[in-house]
Amino acid sequence: MKYDFGLVGLGVMGRNFILNVAENGFSAIGLSSKKESIEKLENDGKDFVVKGTTETKVFIESLTVPRKVMLLVPAGNPVDSVIDSFLPHLSPGDIIIDGGNSHYDDTERRFEKLDKLNIHFLGTGVSGGSKGARLGPSIMPGGNKDAYDIVRPIFEKASAKVNDIPCVSYLGNTSAGHYVKMIHNGIEYAMMQIISEAYHIMKLGMKMSNQEIHQTFVQWNKGKLNSYLIEITSDIFKAKEVETGEYLIDLILDKAKQKGTGKWTSQSAMDFGVAVPTIDSSVSMRILSSFKETRRSGEKIFSKPKSIIGDIEVNDIENALIYGFIMCYAQGLSQLKITSEEKKYGLNYEEICKIWRGGCIIRAKLLEEFMFAFNKNPDLVNLIFDSEISEMIKESDSYARKVSVYSINNKIPSLALNSSISYFDALTTEKLPMNLIQAQRDCFGEHTFERVDMNGTFHNENWQS
Ligand code: 6PG
Repeated sequence: MKYDFGLVGLGVMGRNFILNVAENGFSAIGLSSKKESIEKLENDGKDFVVKGTTETKVFIESLTVPRKVMLLVPAGNPVDSVIDSFLPHLSPGDIIIDGGNSHYDDTERRFEKLDKLNIHFLGTGVSGGSKGARLGPSIMPGGNKDAYDIVRPIFEKASAKVNDIPCVSYLGNTSAGHYVKMIHNGIEYAMMQIISEAYHIMKLGMKMSNQEIHQTFVQWNKGKLNSYLIEITSDIFKAKEVETGEYLIDLILDKAKQKGTGKWTSQSAMDFGVAVPTIDSSVSMRILSSFKETRRSGEKIFSKPKSIIGDIEVNDIENALIYGFIMCYAQGLSQLKITSEEKKYGLNYEEICKIWRGGCIIRAKLLEEFMFAFNKNPDLVNLIFDSEISEMIKESDSYARKVSVYSINNKIPSLALNSSISYFDALTTEKLPMNLIQAQRDCFGEHTFERVDMNGTFHNENWQS
């Protein structure tokens, strides 16, 4: 028996993805060192053609040629170890797909190493968590296009569909797929942060109950904010612990963990000279959240206002969220644009918005508008300059500012919302005060400056005379 598809790593994601592939009519074999994982796979997949093995050699020899092997193992060294263990058994033309959240630099290194051996490497972002893996994720492949065309029928069947259109598309060479997935996660961090700031304002400022917050998110999900993150947030606010009947949200410690993809997005933005302050803020807030004891002592020293200053409505927050969501995508997509030019990925932004519409964590109704914007103008410098999107910004702008002022006056941290507003203001202000920074640099370090009235590079010797 030969199998169409092989998968390494039968954790929750791996098992669900291989079952998804098998259910879609492709015979599949899984490799794991754990016998229990294999038993579970074969039991869950008893209605499909799916099998597991603990032997690398058996696994590779059981695959049809060219072999299509996907890795869903933790990012980092495990990916290199698995690849190295396969090399003695693979043949030229075989395809390795890394479906984890690997750093794009690692993907480039692996791509080049395997390319020399004529083995194709597809760095592929997979989004949607364990449920998405089973029912249809958004898949973001990059690497060799011919190799992608070989796995394409499998990915198109396994991916999520929106109006029957698969949420998978070849994105570009080498690390394009993993770069796009990293940006997806940066946007994910930023949207989650803005939503959590809205929650904080509703809870501390407006004194809304969990039930009221739940109902508000349910309503928001019916409008422009319709998205997976708003949907799950509405569910979260109604979840109660079975034993005590208490709301689970109130029992969760307020320290957010991270695996690093948001941080990588910010780091890479700095490296490529792109400003993504809302994404940076979301990473900073996760870091600040980890200092629970410091925050506790801080609140004792610097007290909060005794009573609420100002007035705000749920509708103001809804509009502030629309504004904030647009800024999250605008920043992520502008990072993709600048990096794509540097790295020659040749990304198609309409296509990226299209495959983000289903299966992934940042799926949202707004993506339809963004697709349309890039369809009208594939070279759009920034989403905020599209005619339709700019109308949405104008409509929500005053609400975002009102919510921001309210949160500042009441000492409710809202770094992501505030930085979204300043990002927009900076991008729409012709004259920034950076002439002063240039003067300071020249004054203390003779770093020179350019002038508005003549060409060239200048230095002033007499700043302090
Ligand atoms: C996805 C998610 C996923 C990511 C988690 C956790 O697209 O399915 O982005 O890949 O691992 O969201 O990320 P953090 O642990 O960094 O929050």
